[in-house]
Amino acid sequence: MSAFLQVKDLKIHFPTDDGLVKSVDGLTFDLERGKTLGIVGESGSGKSVTSLGILGLHKGKGANISGEIWLDGEELVGASQEHVRGLRGKKMAMIFQDPLSSMHPFYTVGDQIIEAYRIHNKVTKAVAKKHAIDMLGRVGIPEPQRRVDSYPHEFSGGMRQRAMIAMALSCDPELLIADEPTTALDVTVQAQILDLMVDLQREFNSALIIITHDLGVVAELSDDILVMYAGKCIEYGSADDIFYRPEHPYTWGLLGSMPRLDREPTERLLPIKGSPPSLINVPPGCAFHPRCPYAERTGGKAKSEVPDLLQTQGGHLVRCHMDRTERRELWENEIKPLLETQ
Ligand SMILES: Nc1ncnc2c1ncn2[C@@H]1O[C@H](COP(=O)(O)OP(=O)(O)OP(=O)(O)O)[C@@H](O)[C@H]1O
Ligand code: SF4
Ligand SMILES: [Mg+2]
Repeated sequence: MSAFLQVKDLKIHFPTDDGLVKSVDGLTFDLERGKTLGIVGESGSGKSVTSLGILGLHKGKGANISGEIWLDGEELVGASQEHVRGLRGKKMAMIFQDPLSSMHPFYTVGDQIIEAYRIHNKVTKAVAKKHAIDMLGRVGIPEPQRRVDSYPHEFSGGMRQRAMIAMALSCDPELLIADEPTTALDVTVQAQILDLMVDLQREFNSALIIITHDLGVVAELSDDILVMYAGKCIEYGSADDIFYRPEHPYTWGLLGSMPRLDREPTERLLPIKGSPPSLINVPPGCAFHPRCPYAERTGGKAKSEVPDLLQTQGGHLVRCHMDRTERRELWENEIKPLLETQ
């Protein structure tokens, strides 16, 4: 049987006056119900465009979209905008990076949950309101009977985030995408919110995608992790593959950039030099080569040939020209000891 969500060679390109922005450039992955996929990468790597793409939110807006998105046996890239809109809410829902942008400022939080719920459930307004209060309570909003009548701007950042989670979860979506759900929140609230999402996911056996630039956030929650760079997957594997056997120099950099409790947030063990490329002018060959400390090891190949995403072991995939044995030796002998001892 095929997976609940299957994304195959997804491309989302935006024609602009400055050129074609290749935000998502051939992404392939699977996700089963009850499982969590972490999508990780620096700012501008295409994470949000990917999630909005799955929800069909780029449709009809001039983007060039190709590839396939199969959700529970249905193909969505070729489906009409109306059809995909009808799936949002119950079949799939998203917790957006910026809660204010996804909530209507002129309607109370309760009304927005009630409306979303009543699209998919034939119930009276009173029943839907009770459900809204119940959901707000479950996401840890105090006095939900009173807060249900508040407007989004009357909530603090953390509470607004919770309200948005309540909204996204109110129809028990089968696929939930959480895009940087905790970036703006302090560490304790972050942990609470992530725990809550995982609890609800278990209860409803939904498929969960957590998007973040911080590998630490997905360490304990994800079954699989997809590392994205310049619109492409550069490493994909189980959480253990990514944390204990990573093979891509960019993943090493992300691991070395993880904030740690025992050091200043500004201290980085293994900083990734330079900044991510513009997606209009992606470097030729391996997109990471201008920043990669090992680019010289593969002759001129890194600058001229795009490496394929190849299987290294089991379901572990890596996009790098470097010899597999060499990558493993580097990790074991140089990178891992550096991350462990410092
Ligand atoms: N509608 C659009 N038109 C043109 N370019 C776009 C559009 N939407 C996104 N982009 C570009 O696509 C690239 C990827 O954007 P995206 O928002 O997916 O990054 P991200 O990985 O989510 O980053 P962040 O961590 O900062 O949220 C960026 O260069 C962005 O400017
Ligand atoms: S292909 Fe070369 S430049 Fe790219 S990540 Fe691998 S070693 Fe670095
Ligand atoms: Mg984003």
